[in-house]
Amino acid sequence: MSSDSFKVGLLGHGTVGGAFDELLAERGDAIQTSTGRRPELAGVLTRSQGTFDEILEGSDAIVELIGGIEPAREYILRALGAGRSVVTANKQLLSRHGDELFEAARSAGVQLRYEGSVAGVVPAIRAIRESLAGTHFDKIYGIVNGTTNYILTEMARTGESYESALARAQKLGYAEADPSEDVGGADAAAKMAILARLAFQASLSLDDVAYEGIEDIKSDDLDYAKEFGLVLKLLGIAERRDDGISVRVFPAFLYGGHPLAPVVGPFNAVTLEGPAITEVTLSGPGAGGPQTASAVLGDLVSVMSGSELELAAPRQLRHIPGDQTESAFYLHLEVADQSGVLAHVAKILGDNGASVKSVVQRGRGDDASLIMVIHPVSEGSFAKAVEQIAGLDAMRSAPRPIRVIEEEFVT
Ligand SMILES: NC(=O)c1ccc[n+]([C@@H]2O[C@H](COP(=O)([O-])OP(=O)(O)OC[C@H]3O[C@@H](n4cnc5c(N)ncnc54)[C@H](OP(=O)(O)O)[C@@H]3O)[C@@H](O)[C@H]2O)c1
Repeated sequence: MSSDSFKVGLLGHGTVGGAFDELLAERGDAIQTSTGRRPELAGVLTRSQGTFDEILEGSDAIVELIGGIEPAREYILRALGAGRSVVTANKQLLSRHGDELFEAARSAGVQLRYEGSVAGVVPAIRAIRESLAGTHFDKIYGIVNGTTNYILTEMARTGESYESALARAQKLGYAEADPSEDVGGADAAAKMAILARLAFQASLSLDDVAYEGIEDIKSDDLDYAKEFGLVLKLLGIAERRDDGISVRVFPAFLYGGHPLAPVVGPFNAVTLEGPAITEVTLSGPGAGGPQTASAVLGDLVSVMSGSELELAAPRQLRHIPGDQTESAFYLHLEVADQSGVLAHVAKILGDNGASVKSVVQRGRGDDASLIMVIHPVSEGSFAKAVEQIAGLDAMRSAPRPIRVIEEEFVT
């Protein structure tokens, strides 16, 4: 091993691993100029090439781009145990085995970096752990899944159904052949678990994140909501309160002035909030081989520069159940066009502590659509109201509640 080279063991050579290999060759000179050492591949491991032990032996650091739980977990633990820093983009693994992996890095005194695991090239991890290391964060939220943002953007733009927008996303490579992890919210939940663990220094795994997806969203709701100035996003929200933390993923309407409202297509964005910083939003491409590879390479340069900050062991914080949080809601009811229905619905809402902020009614033959926005209310009480409304004789289909983020920012 020559003293001016830095040997990198690359595990995985697929979409991101292949792009990382190319980028490493392309940026080698620039990295040598800034760090004094030239990064070079010590070896590549795929299912058909390379041996992990040999690659580890010849490496100064390991880049894991295999994905999934095993054998990625075992390789990372062995690399950390052997005193090698590791860079990974593996959100599945970090969101399920974070405690074990970060403890292994801490006890070995080496780095475990993972910028590429959340929001592609958007430097949210680095902003939280380095630029804003002194900040107390109250809330971290964002659009952390590009597939769902593309689908919702297209449904709102064209009026097409969820199924049709998904089919186009698959054709364009924005959605996998099996899109369930993305559209069901699990991918965003894994990323929010990673962000919240870091921002709140809390022990947290995917099991602690409640998530919902976008499969049941109907395009007419996106149309109606435009009348209230609302746009729909799949949001991840991590909040810190005096009584614990809450980390959730759900589709939510935003008002047009919100910093995340203009984030469209496959882009991602993360907003950080705290008393000292008010609000900082970072946005950019959320996935893709070259984009994610550039986040991975940024981490590798940090490893080469030895610029790791000492991170404390995570704390055990109480997880607040979803029904103990408050939210504003959009509610779409398809009802028989009879007198007294709106009054009945308003009474049920009122009896459960929910008050109507605005309402529009659209006639459709013998039926009508009632579309309303409800002021912030306890989610548990609102769920009870919706259950009672669903039982009314006048209902023509199941009520469609969607959360609304009340915060408005004037730019
Ligand atoms: N793709 C993106 O846009 C994106 C964005 C952000 C984060 N990520 C993350 O980046 C990581 C890699 O994703 P990717 O899209 O590049 O995956 P990918 O295209 O499926 O590539 C996976 C690579 O890992 C290798 N591999 C799989 N199982 C292996 C095993 N048991 N032993 C050794 N090698 C194995 C594969 O080898 P073979 O060639 O032999 O199959 C392939 O080279 C994942 O953690 C993913 O979540 C991806």
